[in-house]
Amino acid sequence: MELFTLAVSTLLIALTFFLLRRTSADSRLPPGSFGWPILGESVEFLFGKPEKFVGDRMKKYSPDIFKTKILGEKTAVICGPAGHKFLFSNEQKLFTVFRPHPMQHLFRSYKPKSAELADPAPPSSKTTDETKAIRQPGFLKPEALMRYLVGMDLITQKQLHIHCAGKEVVEFYPLSKTITLTIACQFFLGINNPERIARLVKNFDDVTVGMHCIMLNLPGTIFYRGNKAAAALRKELIAVIKEKKEAMAKGGPLHDILSHMIVASDPSGKSMPEPEIADKMMGLLTAGYSTVATTMTFLMKYLGLNPDIYERVRAEQLAIAATKKEGVPLDWEDMGKMKYSWNVICETMRMVPPLQGTFREVIEEFTYAGYTIPKGWKVYWTVSTTSMNPQYFKDPERFNPSRYDEGEAPPPYTYVPFGGGLRMCPGKEYARISILAFVHNVVKNYRWEVVDPNEQVEGDMMPEPQKGLPVRLYQH
Ligand code: HEM
Repeated sequence: MELFTLAVSTLLIALTFFLLRRTSADSRLPPGSFGWPILGESVEFLFGKPEKFVGDRMKKYSPDIFKTKILGEKTAVICGPAGHKFLFSNEQKLFTVFRPHPMQHLFRSYKPKSAELADPAPPSSKTTDETKAIRQPGFLKPEALMRYLVGMDLITQKQLHIHCAGKEVVEFYPLSKTITLTIACQFFLGINNPERIARLVKNFDDVTVGMHCIMLNLPGTIFYRGNKAAAALRKELIAVIKEKKEAMAKGGPLHDILSHMIVASDPSGKSMPEPEIADKMMGLLTAGYSTVATTMTFLMKYLGLNPDIYERVRAEQLAIAATKKEGVPLDWEDMGKMKYSWNVICETMRMVPPLQGTFREVIEEFTYAGYTIPKGWKVYWTVSTTSMNPQYFKDPERFNPSRYDEGEAPPPYTYVPFGGGLRMCPGKEYARISILAFVHNVVKNYRWEVVDPNEQVEGDMMPEPQKGLPVRLYQH
């Protein structure tokens, strides 16, 4: 009996100790709510506006950090310029990259079954391959971009001519996507077949939407559509790889990223399997396609709604055109002269961020703003915690490109559409020159009115105009 009492007392003490420890650990966690069982707060995050989701909770819990559960993960949302600085400067020390589960699923078909069994953990830190592929060999370095620029200029001219010349009303969102994907297909894959590109557009759209969604694989769901589109893209990309290999065997040129990936081998001398190359190319194309197209589209909107700003951009571009002989394409020096146009692009990305934010995984427990975030949690950062804050951007609802003029630049870590630190978007310069080439050609040849100035913006993590942004065009 005595032994029984002793055992029960020991158990009770251990339980009390455990509960006390848990309560004290929980009290060190950031404020916030994990929402519903299983779903957490994913529905609110995905189907409300993500900036509203974050803004409401910053007001309710803390402007620095709050906890939530989204896309199946306990997540700390780290906010404000100090939060951005903390996150960007602790890459690979406290954090590593994390792709949400739908994204991991859509982009990892190449992983051999045996490897999956040996390594069942989510490959959060291993999904950086496409980044390595794009950062290391210098495909997006200025030397390479200088070569791409002429092609970007010519493709943009041609596409604008095909889709706009003689037309009264043009939907600019689909057109921007076609221009962007045509450019990316040329430089990433070395293909320029318009039918093939048109087929890819729809699939890339479905994959893009599927990257941030609830993983319900039933007909009609976003995830189901994303999966189907990813499979179709993979098939198409594998066909492109086979053709490329044949062309290379006959001595074809190695100008695109794909050819380099085909010849690249790992340290043991093995070349990459085709499904793996296909997935990496899919990752790259997805990262660089809708972001650029969205920026071009909303730029059309803001220039259409602000004739005085349009006139200033046009004057800048005509001055550049005046220094060139007819038919001579844009060069690197011209890009440096497009300062006001770049400010307009920056302001467009502030008003409508092409990518709201990204996730990290915590690799070492850390304390921030007095709260402790355990190892294994996810961290989410988003541009929206600073970009519409009147503390950093006076009159934030106003489209005002002059706010980036010298002497008026936003405070550090408040304007971060491309992220920052080690993980900063490797495609930033590519995006800059492709959008500047677009601005040059569109304002040189057209003036326009936005058909519906109040057209709704849809989309969760990546915004899009509900009706595709129809504009009424007038040729100069
Ligand atoms: C306006 C256009 C673009 C915007 C606003 C944008 C924005 C971003 C942002 C915010 C990130 C996340 C950074 C982070 O996690 O800290 C990112 C990552 C990335 N972007 Fe972009 N991007 C754009 C265009 C491009 C283009 C054109 C490419 C490719 C040519 C590209 C390739 C990538 C890749 C591969 C990553 C992943 C980097 C990593 O995880 O290390 N992006 N981008």
